[in-house]
Amino acid sequence: IQDRVAQLKREAARHAVTYIEDGMAVGLGTGSTAKFMIDALGERVAKEGLRIRGIPTSEASAEQAKGLNIPITDFAADPFLDIAIDGADEVQRGSLYLVKGLGGALLREKIVAASARRFVIIVDESKLVDDLGTHAPIPVEITPWGWERAAKLLGDTGAHACKPRMKRDGNLFITDNGNMILDCHYPSIDDPRGLSQSIIDITGVVDHGLFLGMTSEVLVAGLHGIDRLVP
Ligand code: A5P
Repeated sequence: IQDRVAQLKREAARHAVTYIEDGMAVGLGTGSTAKFMIDALGERVAKEGLRIRGIPTSEASAEQAKGLNIPITDFAADPFLDIAIDGADEVQRGSLYLVKGLGGALLREKIVAASARRFVIIVDESKLVDDLGTHAPIPVEITPWGWERAAKLLGDTGAHACKPRMKRDGNLFITDNGNMILDCHYPSIDDPRGLSQSIIDITGVVDHGLFLGMTSEVLVAGLHGIDRLVP
């Protein structure tokens, strides 16, 4: 079944890449699903001579894109993007609100999503939830200095536990932006917009993994095929 899901995610990624046209500036997501998408885009660049410019949301995606000869641009040259394509950790049915950042790239992903005219998400159906925070903690990117204070204040927003993200080797996880991540578990999230604002209001918080009102469409890879959801 895992192989089949991977195959469907690859198909959904291929489909998403058909939205990309010659001359576009494209936000390149991060994670295993976005990796399929970047592969498919590299194939189009090589085979069709598609001329596009990509802004990667992580060093890892930048490396992959460079390896595939996808030209890289930046916000100085391209402050607005035609499209961005990414994965997600949770997608709320109906609202298409997202939780992102289990891969740690949430800040660049959100900047890219906010810059894109069209923000397309690819997930497998296990990521669809009725309530945000069901499977995933909310990742909060914070400035390391004084993090204990931010963790305490995040507790006041209803988080039961806010733990610094660690790497497998036991060292602290540091983002591509030099910050740390607190993974915050919320027993329930009744008001995502209110929570988003309360988190952002804490000094020292750089951003968080709730992506609200940003999604243009979600391609869901399920065992029966690919579903397309719009808000
Ligand atoms: C990266 O920071 C995340 O937001 C990813 O988009 C998310 O973790 C999805 O990754 P997968 O496609 O590997 O599930």
